[in-house]
Formats: sequence, C-alpha cells, structure tokens
Amino acid sequence: MSRIVLEGISKIFGHKHVEAVDLIRQGKRKAEIAASCGAVVGLCDISFEIVEGEILTLMGLSGSGKSTLLRCMNRLVEPTCGRILVGDVDVTRLGRKDLLAFRQKTFGMVFQHFALLPNRTILSNVGFGLELKNVPAARRTEAAMQAIELVGLKGWEAKYPHELSGGMQQRAGLARALAADAEILLMDEAFSALDPLIRRDMQAELRDLQRKLKKTIVFVSHDLDEAVALGGRIVLMKDGEVVQIGQPEEVVARPATEYVARFVEHIDRAAVMRAGQVADRSAPVLAPTLTASEARARIAAEGGDAWLVADADRRFAGRLRADRLAGARPGDTVASLLESGADAVAAEARLDAVLARVATEGCVAVVDPDGRLIGGIASRDVVRALAARPDHPETSSLHKPAGAERWTGTSPNFPSTRSATKASTGSPTMALG
Ligand SMILES: Nc1ncnc2c1ncn2[C@@H]1O[C@H](COP(=O)(O)OP(=O)(O)O)[C@@H](O)[C@H]1O
Ligand SMILES: [Mg+2]
Repeated sequence: MSRIVLEGISKIFGHKHVEAVDLIRQGKRKAEIAASCGAVVGLCDISFEIVEGEILTLMGLSGSGKSTLLRCMNRLVEPTCGRILVGDVDVTRLGRKDLLAFRQKTFGMVFQHFALLPNRTILSNVGFGLELKNVPAARRTEAAMQAIELVGLKGWEAKYPHELSGGMQQRAGLARALAADAEILLMDEAFSALDPLIRRDMQAELRDLQRKLKKTIVFVSHDLDEAVALGGRIVLMKDGEVVQIGQPEEVVARPATEYVARFVEHIDRAAVMRAGQVADRSAPVLAPTLTASEARARIAAEGGDAWLVADADRRFAGRLRADRLAGARPGDTVASLLESGADAVAAEARLDAVLARVATEGCVAVVDPDGRLIGGIASRDVVRALAARPDHPETSSLHKPAGAERWTGTSPNFPSTRSATKASTGSPTMALG
C-alpha cells in the first residue's frame, strides 16, 4: 500500500510561476528556466510513491531540492503544482484548518538542529506536541515517558536540554516526534550535526525503532553511507529532479546517470552488494547421486578446494571438499561424502557479512528464499565484485526507457521494498546442512 503518492510536484520560488511551470511542461530544466525567466526551480515535476512502513532516504548535493521536497509532503512548503496523497487524503486540497490538524496528526518532524525549548525539561519538551493538541497531562506524561524510554533517555527526563550532549538532545528531538505517535516521520539531516560514532549509533537505532514501530520514514541526507545504514530505498535528486530511485545495491550496480555514478563512486561496495549479486552462477554443481568417479570426471578440468552439491531441483544439498573426494572409493556417492554443517547464505545477505566465511571456507553457497542454489562465492568472486566499476549509465537498460530524461515512476524491475525489508531483517545464513 502506498502511504505517500507524489504526482507531478513542482515548486517555483520567486516570481514568474506561470511561465516557469509552462517551461517545465515543455521539458525545460532548472538552469534553462533560470536563464529564460529568472525563476528559481526548487522542484521540477516529481512523481513517485512511498510505501507504507518503508524508510526512504532523499539524497543529493546541497541545493538539489531534498528539504523542499520533504517539506512539500506536509505542505510546510506549498507546491506550485502537482498532487500529494497521503493514504486516501489529497493533502493538496486541504483547507488551512484541516491542513493544520492533518499535519499534526499524521506527521512528526525531526530537524538537524534539535529545536528543544531551553527552559523546559526533557519530559516537557517531549510532551510538547501533545500539549499543543490539548492531551490531558497524565496521558501526555505517559506517552512522553514511553518515547523517552524508546530512545534510551530514561533517567534524563527531569534534565534541561543544556545538560544533555548533542546526541542526547537529538534523541530527545526524536522522542518528541515519536510521542505524538504520528504515522509518518519526516527527518531532515537529523543526524548530520552529530559526531560520527554517535551518528552511527543513531542510524542503527532508528532502523531498529522503525522495524519495531513500523513508521513510514522519509529521511533527508547528503551522506550515502547514512542511506545505506538506514537500509531502505534511496531517491537521488539533482537540480530539483529525481534522477534515480532504488535499493542501494541497485543504484551502486547500475547508476542511471553520470551524476549518480559519481555519487556512489566511493561507497563501501561490500556494505551494499548482496550475496546473490556476487555469486558465480556458472560454477559446476554436483548431484548428490553421482559416484566419486563420476564426480571426479565432472570437475576434472576445474580447480578449487570444494564444490557445491544440489539435487535435480537445484535444492542445496551441501559441499564436497577436494580432499574428501580424493580419498573416496570410486563407488562412494557424493551424498555420503558431504561436509557436515556447510550452511548456505541467503541471496539478500550483505557481502560484508559473508566475507569471513568465504575466507575460511573457500566457497560459500548462496540460495534463494526457497533454498534453491543460486551459485557459490569464492575469493575470486569477491575480488571481482569489489573491483568492478558500475555499468556505464548508457548501457544500463534497467532504469529509464530510452530517451526519458526525468524519472517518471517506480520501475517494475525493482524488487518491492517490502520483500527487501523482510529479507534484510532475516538472518543472513540459513541452516541447511
Ligand atoms: N525559500 C526559498 N526561497 C528561494 N529559493 C529557495 C528557497 N528554499 C529553497 N530554495 C532553492 O531551492 C533549491 C533547493 O533547495 P533545498 O530544498 O533547500 O536543497 P537541499 O535541501 O537539497 O540542500 C535551491 O536552489 C535553493 O536555493
Ligand atoms: Mg536541505
């Protein structure tokens, strides 16, 4: 289910709205429009959907329109044209009073600067949103204490903001957004002012909280590592336009434009790539019913310390080590020679979570969710994956129809966020041995 639907959103700052919108409709871009009529294009014809319960990161260089887009979602910034649906509510059609009520009920916001009120305690700050909604004091305190506990600030509720570190103040800001129990959290560079270590803790905690509370979160960041740590889809923006949407591993493997390619150039590929992308699908696979002599004939021309074994349905059966095969009698079956406890890895597992096993085991099996063998990962496959440069954008067929310049919607080629979320919460290894 889509939580937020953006349809043709444009935002023009300054004068000449009509001319600028007209020029956008003719396919003109930010720079051309500035040159021809002087209007500042904040957002240019943006359409995409945010799925309920996902954590989506808006990324891009400074000035690319991330904050403007985020603020359009609850109309803190009025879009010049386009439509925004939240659930079945057309936010763009709400009158002033309904808008205020809807915004308070539906959206929580967290900014880079904590914006805590200095002369109020943490408890009173966290309960502030509820106070504005006239929630009775007892219920307010209960909800605020719950949120304070969720973000790990229990024991600090009676302190004042200046008595807390930056990281703790940001936790209080997050607690304030959570206390109001809004379904959607809008977070603008919320962790950018924090020290790197604290920032990483906060990213991990937000990810855990999101899983637990199932909020829809739209997070603005200019830091790709942060987007990867948060674990959801990425929307890459440039000059007020969306240039690509996808899971980090898709964006890294197949950047849609040169700009995206440059953006992802320095990313830690092992943290982004998935086992299923790295597995060698052409490695020989032995059937458990083969005899040792048949198996030797089969792999005679191959090097390697071990081979993967799967049945006729490609169900992973185990691993056969070269030394075991060498010492076997000719009539022994492969099934009787399997190494014990050779677990497979799920295709969705991150490469960095598998590296240690590749190093110690030589060849690790990768299976799909049904337990079918996809292929194996050996050291050479890891080296190849980490050394590879992404496909050249022009040769990538996945992201945009030929000739299309602007992103016009979610490609059916992208796996759904829900399945990706589910997969990444699961354990990376599946015991099959
Ligand atoms: N209130 C404003 N008035 C005029 N121009 C603005 C205003 N807010 C943003 N802009 C312009 O819109 C563009 C996008 O800005 P913004 O959304 O803040 O980018 P980001 O958050 O990605 O850094 C920039 O060119 C910026 O100068
Ligand atoms: Mg911004």
